Amino acid sequence: MKPKYYITTPIYYVNGAPHIGHAYTSIAADVMARFKRLDGYDVFFLTGTDEHGQKVEQAAAAAGISPQAFTDKISADFKTMADAMAISYDDYIRTTEDRHKASTTELWKRIEKSGDLYLGHYEGWYAVRDEAFYDESELTKKPDGTFMAPSGAPVEWVREPSYFFKLSAFQDRLLKLYEENPDFIAPTSRRNEVMSFVRGGLLDLSVSRTTFNWGIPVPDAPGHVMYVWLDALNNYVTGCGFPDETASRWKYWPADVHFVGKDIIRFHAVYWPAFLMSAGLPLPKRVTSNGWWVVDGEKMSKSLGNVIEPRKLMETFGLDQIRYFLMREKPFGADGSISHQAIISRMNVELANDLGNLAQRSLSMVARNCGGALPASGPRTDDDTALLSSAAALPDLVRAHMERQTFHDALEEIWKVVRAANGYIDRQAPWALNKTDKVRMAHVLRVLADTVRVVATLLQPVMPGSMAKMLDQLGVPADARDFAALSKPLPDGTPLPAPQGVFPRYVEPAA
Ligand code: MSP
Repeated sequence: MKPKYYITTPIYYVNGAPHIGHAYTSIAADVMARFKRLDGYDVFFLTGTDEHGQKVEQAAAAAGISPQAFTDKISADFKTMADAMAISYDDYIRTTEDRHKASTTELWKRIEKSGDLYLGHYEGWYAVRDEAFYDESELTKKPDGTFMAPSGAPVEWVREPSYFFKLSAFQDRLLKLYEENPDFIAPTSRRNEVMSFVRGGLLDLSVSRTTFNWGIPVPDAPGHVMYVWLDALNNYVTGCGFPDETASRWKYWPADVHFVGKDIIRFHAVYWPAFLMSAGLPLPKRVTSNGWWVVDGEKMSKSLGNVIEPRKLMETFGLDQIRYFLMREKPFGADGSISHQAIISRMNVELANDLGNLAQRSLSMVARNCGGALPASGPRTDDDTALLSSAAALPDLVRAHMERQTFHDALEEIWKVVRAANGYIDRQAPWALNKTDKVRMAHVLRVLADTVRVVATLLQPVMPGSMAKMLDQLGVPADARDFAALSKPLPDGTPLPAPQGVFPRYVEPAA
């Protein structure tokens, strides 16, 4: 039986259209999901939308339609977007679905049964944009005298009856969790940040709201709706069929990894495990957080008019090119800058020149000089062995990086082999051998085909469409594209289709 692997994206607020930041977290999670499937895991990959709360209610009101009609529309847009970006989710969850309401009501009841809830009165700061409560010590005062959350969001003073979750009682258990599981929070900088936040002492958390009603009702407490983060976080167990622990999907819980942005680490690494501990449910194994994309060095914002729409990028450059750029350009956990120039440079140097030319040069020689069939291997020179062994070592190197979500390092390892293969082809000069030693030429081309096969197989999670084309051209059957299949050589003489360039150079359209 295949080992299970459960992976999630954050569920996205449906208060506006998807932008590149949303696309990023989803693409990273998708790369991981695809990698695990190819590596022999039974993967369950969940994404979806976060539809309750004041922020969404206000956006619906501004659009002049009911919250449900509004969320139906925007959730559908996020789903279309996920499909357009080849996000291979197994289920798409919406927090307005009945299954989620039932699951979250049950979670609430379990927490209540543990004695971790009490009725009180919340009085303090709230940022609707972050859907978060802040202590005054966390805020900065602006020149106009108003306060601002660390995220830059405006805050307002809230005073209302509320249920509280006894978060303060979980400090020791949370610290023990982080200490015993050093990989629970990644990267380390975020882990340190969370640990010092928890060490600083935790306040009880307001978990119901009474000044609006777009949320899941608190059982037996008229007027109270659940705090949107408790509702939203619980999507991860709803997706596994909770509270039906006999559901076939229940086997996937706990999650192996939650992908989240650095701005929402506190919710996932502090509140979420505390809720689960209280409800007596197993804890996720890892919360990995990505840094932010800024545009030409500046924060993306509607007011600056520099928000990058993933659809436009995909139209201009192509889906796989964008997926590659996002995974390659910056370390996953760090912030990074996105610009057309940077995308074009990755496309033209690494995709078109390095990888595209390598495949095209090798395969067109096979087509022209080997009768369009995969040549047999021959006796190996040191140069052959060096290249083939670096390719053979790749899956393990890449796997180790994937486990840590160091995607850009995984790609760098792959590119080392791509560059080595380009060096090899230049040294071996099969075009010259074609005139002097056709037998050796065929052997050289086979070494190249085998190397490109390893590269293309490992790159499938990042560039699924382009790598499918490349593997077609290499004659790799559809059932021999997982990592285990790499240990079986392709049969000599496999007929190869006519090669076609997979990565054209990007040429700026004439103005
Ligand atoms: N609804 C919550 C998540 C609930 S999960 C139980 C939420 N939604 S969000 O739509 O605002 O953001 C979703 C994700 O997009 C976050 O992980 C956030 O970090 C990410 N990004 C939003 N803007 C971003 C960038 N500019 N760059 C990279 N990712 C950023 O938070």
